[in-house]
Amino acid sequence: RVSAFAPNPPNRNVQVKSKHVLSTRLFATVEKDEAAVDAPDHMPELRDIAPTIDPKSSNTAFLRYMSDHAFSVANNAKYWNERAQSLLSWEHYPFTSENCEGVVTGGFEYGDVAWFSGAKLNVCYNAIDRHVQNGKADQVAMIWEGDEPGQVLKFTYSDMLRRVSEIANALKSQGVKKGDVVTIYMPMIPQLPMTILACARIGAVHSVVFAGFSSEALSARISASKSKFVVTTDNGVRGGKTIPLKKIVDDAIERNDCKDIVKNVMVFERERSIASDAVTADPSAMNWISDRDVNMNDLLPKQRPYCTPETMDAEDELFILYTSGSTGQPKGLVHTTGGYSLYAAHTIQTTFDLQPNDVFACVADCGWITGHTYVVYAPLLSGSTTVLFESTPLYPDAGRYWDMVERHKISLFYTAPTAIRSLVRFGDDIPKKYDLSSLRILGSVGEPINPAAWQWYYETVGQERCTVVDTYWQTETGGHIVTNIPGVTPMKPGSCTLPLYGIDLVVLDPMTGEAIEGNDVEGVLAIRSPWPGIARTCLGDHARYLSTYLRPYPGYYFTGDAVYRDKDGFYFITGRVDDVLNVSGHRIGTAEVESALVKHPSVAQAAVVGRPHPIKGEAIIAYATPTESNTEDEEELVKELRLLVRSEIGPFASPDVICVTPSLPMTRSGKIMRRVLRKISAGEADQLGDVSTLADPGVVDVLIELMEKQA
Ligand code: WTA
Repeated sequence: RVSAFAPNPPNRNVQVKSKHVLSTRLFATVEKDEAAVDAPDHMPELRDIAPTIDPKSSNTAFLRYMSDHAFSVANNAKYWNERAQSLLSWEHYPFTSENCEGVVTGGFEYGDVAWFSGAKLNVCYNAIDRHVQNGKADQVAMIWEGDEPGQVLKFTYSDMLRRVSEIANALKSQGVKKGDVVTIYMPMIPQLPMTILACARIGAVHSVVFAGFSSEALSARISASKSKFVVTTDNGVRGGKTIPLKKIVDDAIERNDCKDIVKNVMVFERERSIASDAVTADPSAMNWISDRDVNMNDLLPKQRPYCTPETMDAEDELFILYTSGSTGQPKGLVHTTGGYSLYAAHTIQTTFDLQPNDVFACVADCGWITGHTYVVYAPLLSGSTTVLFESTPLYPDAGRYWDMVERHKISLFYTAPTAIRSLVRFGDDIPKKYDLSSLRILGSVGEPINPAAWQWYYETVGQERCTVVDTYWQTETGGHIVTNIPGVTPMKPGSCTLPLYGIDLVVLDPMTGEAIEGNDVEGVLAIRSPWPGIARTCLGDHARYLSTYLRPYPGYYFTGDAVYRDKDGFYFITGRVDDVLNVSGHRIGTAEVESALVKHPSVAQAAVVGRPHPIKGEAIIAYATPTESNTEDEEELVKELRLLVRSEIGPFASPDVICVTPSLPMTRSGKIMRRVLRKISAGEADQLGDVSTLADPGVVDVLIELMEKQA
């Protein structure tokens, strides 16, 4: 046992107190105690749980981690130079082990970070061809598990090479060229990762939009990225329900300026794509614009099943992925070819100890960063087998994951705390019915995992035999940045533990921006120097990239998360310090929901806050004040507002509660005090604190009463 890891002290104070986490720079325009960050509800639970030491890690391994980590940070360029040569195949690599000058250039002052520039490679070649050439042609690269259990397709690496090449050639036949942005709006069928890889093969920049987004949200992303090409399917199927994706694309193109932008829509028929004997769908079932729409299932048989990979510079753009921030406009983060793919391969091999024979199942959707990195790129770059899962953890019942583990002999399984919590409710008997002996490592991602869920994952699913890795990272970081490493560093339930190699993690004093040394401290989480996987810019808005990540604390990349570093030096993420919510693992900006609500002609003002939710992590609570001229019935208005959010963003952003109120808590200077709304929403009106700056303190009682009525 590692002596450094004494049990958590029983009275450890994990409360992140409001003013502690207030950054005067970040929240310059916000009332002083507005930035209050409340420690999540699960934090007190931590005290009851002794730390669980990874049975496979030892004192020696841990000491080795500490020296390796220190080395990797002190010799950043040298460390990544070595990793780049051992993990990727480069067409041209201008650096040597002796001379790594220029491996990384630029920095956080201007956000001009570049890794391996001048080096050449193709990511699709690295993910497929080199494995075919190195004796793995017949190894299964991807197992597709469809919506119905047992609906399975397997693709070897040579299948992938043919299929991806066909799609790449089809894209080219439609005029897609190196550097063009291709929007991909597809369900989790095999052609989704294949299209992603096809873009990488020809040097096109993919912009995957999660197929749960509405036509308006899709339209905004097409418009912002000026994407001339859209790839979609007729339908998506999930949990037995059919979603008409082509129709949503048609609607999206009618909106904003997309009609002038989109030249070509390439449509896969889902049935024909997953079953070679499926007949062509009734063409009249789909709206078809003949000079714009192309049927991919008709186009593919005409393509040569080999396509030469395009030579790309390490710093060429690989993809754009939109994510939520603290304004209403989603930002398109840009990831690049060399750094991102190296970081993907490096992290999966470190965090999941990925071996060539592993069957890796990350059950995230490819529409989010977790799907990009850990369904598609990382496992395939590593030459192992990835699982693509089209359904949900509860379809047809709560045994779906475990049934899949048994049938595919999954060894590494990766999901989100919200999914685990939704399964805990169904009890231990369900996982016990299945043979889970193939499992080796279990991963968690997306939000802090509460110790009760952690324990269930570790004991009931992992049978106290598997390491649980709690992986902390972000769309912006490209891959894991803080996590325990199986067999190397210890586990501690609720903590993402320690930084990965090459990550120079710091806790900053939110007021002064100074790094806080020592343990048992809290502040905001930041990183001192660039790593290969960092997003390079926000598409078309580098100023926003600077002001969000690099300017708040000069000299550092700012994560937006508050953190506690415990007595042993282990990190606990305690929540976002901006107005970003984490709802069932989906990142949603409160400002996005607010701007959807105020589009309603009867709404004068709206405010959205999060409230702790036992399964989803956070629930969305919306407050709306009607305009003076509003004559609508309240119930009707709420219904319309809910529909509006669904159509502006997507069903997953629909508020749990919409409260119509005559007024909102405003300061005298006219700002909404969200802190007050957060407390009232959480039923903690007795802890409102100082409300003397409110213009009309009477509003508090009105809101409390309204909230009670909702409950
Ligand atoms: C949160 C998802 C605690 C965090 C990969 C971060 C986590 C945001 C964890 C990024 C974790 C992610 N423990 N919090 N293990 N993983 N988060 O961009 O607030 O969708 O900033 O990337 O999720 O969400 P994103």
